[in-house]
Parts: sequence; structure tokens; C-alpha cells
Amino acid sequence: MKPRDRLRIAMQKSGRLTEPAQELLARCGLKFRQSRDKLFCFGEGEPVDLLLVRDDDIPGLIAEGVCDMGIVGRNVLQEYQYSHPEAGVALDELRPLGFGRCRLSIALPQDEPYDTPAQLGGQRIATSYPGLLGEWLRSNGVDAKVVYLAGSVEIAPRLGTADAICDLVSSGATLVANQLRETAVLVESEAVLAGPRDLPTDERGEIAELLLRRLDGVIQVRDSRLILLQAPRNALDEITRLLPGLPIPTLTAVDGAPDQVVVQALCAGSVSWRQLEDMKRAGARDMLVLPVEKMLA
Ligand code: PRP
Ligand code: ZN
Repeated sequence: MKPRDRLRIAMQKSGRLTEPAQELLARCGLKFRQSRDKLFCFGEGEPVDLLLVRDDDIPGLIAEGVCDMGIVGRNVLQEYQYSHPEAGVALDELRPLGFGRCRLSIALPQDEPYDTPAQLGGQRIATSYPGLLGEWLRSNGVDAKVVYLAGSVEIAPRLGTADAICDLVSSGATLVANQLRETAVLVESEAVLAGPRDLPTDERGEIAELLLRRLDGVIQVRDSRLILLQAPRNALDEITRLLPGLPIPTLTAVDGAPDQVVVQALCAGSVSWRQLEDMKRAGARDMLVLPVEKMLA
């Protein structure tokens, strides 16, 4: 294969992860021009291109070196890892991305009681995730029959082709619509950045490092808030204790009011009305909570 000097990232062409993944890359300062066939997006600023594909194809494209990295559900990545152990360090979870959260779970017909995995022994379980399900059954010492289905797994119990299913649950609406009940959770999933554990040693490695640095910055500030307030100096201790995440605040003197101080602090996580009201009771006023756009340590 011809060596590439641009980084190529695979992502889902159309689905739940597409929009948030594109938004995340935009926040990292990446801009793309879409080709006419809508499969390839050329990076205009940085040398990073996108390949838009079916999500299940993403791990294979990375393992085979067609793409350098991918944005994909942890469930899809782990399923590939179980069924292709030879991929090894060539394919790893590099970063959790915090969107597209869902669970890979076992679900049974609503009226079926459930206590332990053992009761699944001898049952037929329909799934698109035979690798993950097989591993879970083995580790629980359960001997069940795995029925592979590429899609529409949830209707298998009603059709009589399976006794239970192992599928993704997000809102739970699909289960309810099919009179199924979630029992055991196998994987807590979310979108992840997948790629080789060791970055390429050529130019692409440097681009990958730049991307990872920006991603870390974006992820770190996404849920951060900058809080600004004014407080009497003698209330500082109490107010500092009330700041979410206990950040170390920056203090600024107020001209003409030596007993007052302006407090500025970067809080991890959101700041609730209740927390603001508690700080107000402690003496704070003129409080502002601001979203953070970028951060570079
Ligand atoms: C999953 C899963 C269910 C549905 C669950 O499919 O197979 O059908 O989502 O979501 P809910 O709990 O919100 O109803 P998805 O649409 O992600 O497609 P895919 O797994 O075939 O890629
Ligand atoms: Zn899919």
C-alpha cells in the first residue's frame, strides 16, 4: 500500500453517531469538503480526511490500515476485537468520546422471570454480537445457543426463533414495543476513538498527536463552566467550598471595596441553580456561569 501523508478517519455514514461525531471534529477545528459520492470528505485546514462508511466496517478498515483511526461505538469495536484477536495492538480504544451512550444487554419476554445468568442455559439467544455474547456466556459458565441475526433481533422471540435476545438498548423504546425486558448488561457503550495503540511514526503520527491533544481539550472543557462572582473576603472560605468540583479560584481585588473580591473558577461539570443559591446565601453576588469554548494547558 502506498504510504499516506494525510490522516484518514473512518466514521458512520448515517446513523446516531454521525452528527455528534462531525460536531466533535468541528470543535477540534477540522473542516471538510464532501465529495460528490458523499463517501469521502477532504480536510481543508489540517491534513485529516474522513471516510464515511457503515459503522460495522470501521474496525476492519483500521485493522487493515485503510484508515488510521475511527469513531465507532465501543460495542462494535469490542465485537471486532473478540472475533479478530489477531488485530491486537493494531486496534484499540484510544479515547471515550462521551456521546452515543447505550448498553448491550440481554432481554427476555416481559412475563419471563429472571434471577441469574444460569437460567439462560440451554436457551436460544438471538444477537448481532456473537463475539461479546459468547464471551459473556463463557465467563458466566452458561451453555446457551447463540443465534446470529444481522438485524431486527428484537422480533426473534415473537417469531419463535429465539428465547431471548442480546441487543443494544438506548432509550428502551424498542424493547417496550416488542414486549421485552432488559435483564443483564454486558457492555456500557458510547462512541470511542479507535486506532492503533502505537501511533504511526511518520507524518501521520504527528497529525494524530495534534488531533488527540485537541480532542482532549474539547472533551475536558465540554462539561466545564467558568464561574465568576463577587464576595466579601470573609465569606471566601465557605464559597470556595461550595464551588462544584472544588477548583482553585483566582481572586481579583475590587477597587474602592477592600473587603470585597472577585472570584473566578473553572468548575468541572455543570453548576446548578441550587448551588448558586447556596453561594448567594453564603454572601456571593453578581454570579455568572459561562460555557468554555476552548482550553489549552
Ligand atoms: C439499536 C438496536 C435497537 C435500537 C435500540 O439499533 O438494535 O434496535 O437501537 O434503541 P432504543 O432502546 O432507543 O429503542 P441501531 O438503530 O443503533 O442500529 P444498528 O445497531 O443496526 O447500527
Ligand atoms: Zn450498525
